[in-house]
Amino acid sequence: MTINMNVHAEIVRGLPKQILIDGKFVPALSGRTFQTFNPATGEAIADIAEGDAADIDLAVAAARRAFTGPWSRFTPFQRQQCLLRFADLIETHFDELCVIDVLDMGVPISMMRARKQRALGLARFYAGLVTTIHGGTLPNSFPGEVFSYTLKEPVGVVGAITPWNAPLTSTIWKMAPVIATGCTMVLKPAEDAPLTALRLGELLLEAGVPEGVVNIVPGFGHTAGAALASHMDVDKVAFTGSDFTGRKIIEASKGNIKRVTLELGGKSPDVIFADCDMDAAVAGAGMGVFANSGQICCAGTRLLVQRPIYDEFIERVSAYAKSLKVGNGLDPETQIGPVVNAKQLDRVAGYIDVGLGEGAQATVGGKRLTEGALKNGYFFEPTVLSCVTNDMRVAQEEIFGPVAAAIPFDTLEEAAAIANDTVFGLGGGVWTTNVSTAHRMAKAIRAGTVWVNTYGGLDPVVPFGGYKTSGYGRESGVEHIEAYLETKSVIMKLG
Ligand code: NAI
Ligand code: MG
Repeated sequence: MTINMNVHAEIVRGLPKQILIDGKFVPALSGRTFQTFNPATGEAIADIAEGDAADIDLAVAAARRAFTGPWSRFTPFQRQQCLLRFADLIETHFDELCVIDVLDMGVPISMMRARKQRALGLARFYAGLVTTIHGGTLPNSFPGEVFSYTLKEPVGVVGAITPWNAPLTSTIWKMAPVIATGCTMVLKPAEDAPLTALRLGELLLEAGVPEGVVNIVPGFGHTAGAALASHMDVDKVAFTGSDFTGRKIIEASKGNIKRVTLELGGKSPDVIFADCDMDAAVAGAGMGVFANSGQICCAGTRLLVQRPIYDEFIERVSAYAKSLKVGNGLDPETQIGPVVNAKQLDRVAGYIDVGLGEGAQATVGGKRLTEGALKNGYFFEPTVLSCVTNDMRVAQEEIFGPVAAAIPFDTLEEAAAIANDTVFGLGGGVWTTNVSTAHRMAKAIRAGTVWVNTYGGLDPVVPFGGYKTSGYGRESGVEHIEAYLETKSVIMKLG
């Protein structure tokens, strides 16, 4: 198919590319810009204002003013209206928002369209929660003499730092609880894919969110990101990204004892039992690792396969990997796009060398794709490594590429032990037709989410987050709102 790049260049031309502070798009104080690239072609697509510590200071000050300004007097119903209008605007502009993600980080358009329900659902779910936020009256030790109750109050100025792997949904995920609770925010989007966040900032203003409530400072992690994470007037940081950076966020938060929530990486096990529905498991576990070129925090990258079906499963999942259409995400038939940048491509290729050196074998894939239209993009073949043992680096470290590591097991107990032999605990999967096996494994896997006979689906209503090194706090679900609230206790003497 031919892709009309003029239409897409036109979309990018119309997008905001500067820093959003106090409701206005302004250049960086330094005057500097950086380029964002389309990983399918290697071409620069836009120059973005490069914010740093000085811009973060201005943005935090704007967020602080907004926190005590008219926004603090918005009723829950008014905040709810903002979120509902935001959702409607996302719906109206959904095709455009999909194209922006595709151009900026390579995800296939088919996958973006499949996320529509989730993107709108996130905004509307938090809209629904707004009017449910409340404290309580508490019985105490002095009935009739003392009255005690709690108030739920917004935590304050939130610093949000997002990764590049799912810009649309991960940005809505960070914005919606801020609006729902009456907080204000400074968002530092990932340098590899900043365009969607800036467009969403524009839509929030259109939805009636007052100036300064949501400020967006694109820039690099070690400058803008670090300044935001350590800022003494930021009350909470909500971070999604690598565990490496997550540790820096914890360190940076200590100056003013910020509240911190961390959604970090994983090396999630997907456990395939011999009694599974093989057709479903091949496609489900396959997409569980290859979707978005493996650039998903909860990707099921360790395939634990019961020994009686190990050879057959590896053969079939390898054939499945081979059948996937890799290409430019703008082509509606593309199933697997590029990885985000040259560094990520080198990282994936480097891990293949590590794995082969450790004794793994590639039953499919293992190489960069450079033929024809793919030649300037960062495409990597969906890859299955077999003969992996769980102590190998390719079984322990997050690759963030389309690479499955297949490990055999015999018993349920052994599967559970291997599944949990990792520093991470974000997700896990089980494929079986035996109900007892399903429940026993769901209980045994130490991870924030376990999928049974499906893999990777998220829902705004269902809490999501990590055990162990995969982070702390939950996003989605009613739990999420608590991370943006303080509880104030009021104790009143009567009479
Ligand atoms: P990263 O963790 O460095 O980047 C995530 C965000 O943190 C970006 O906005 C970045 O600018 C910001 N950041 C970086 N250093 C910072 C600092 N010192 N202080 C404050 N903010 C900072 O991840 P990166 O470099 O994009 O990807 C590297 C690896 O991280 C990937 O290969 C993957 O393994 C993992 N990763 C995991 C993600 C997940 O969803 N769990 C998302 C992105 C990356
Ligand atoms: Mg980009």
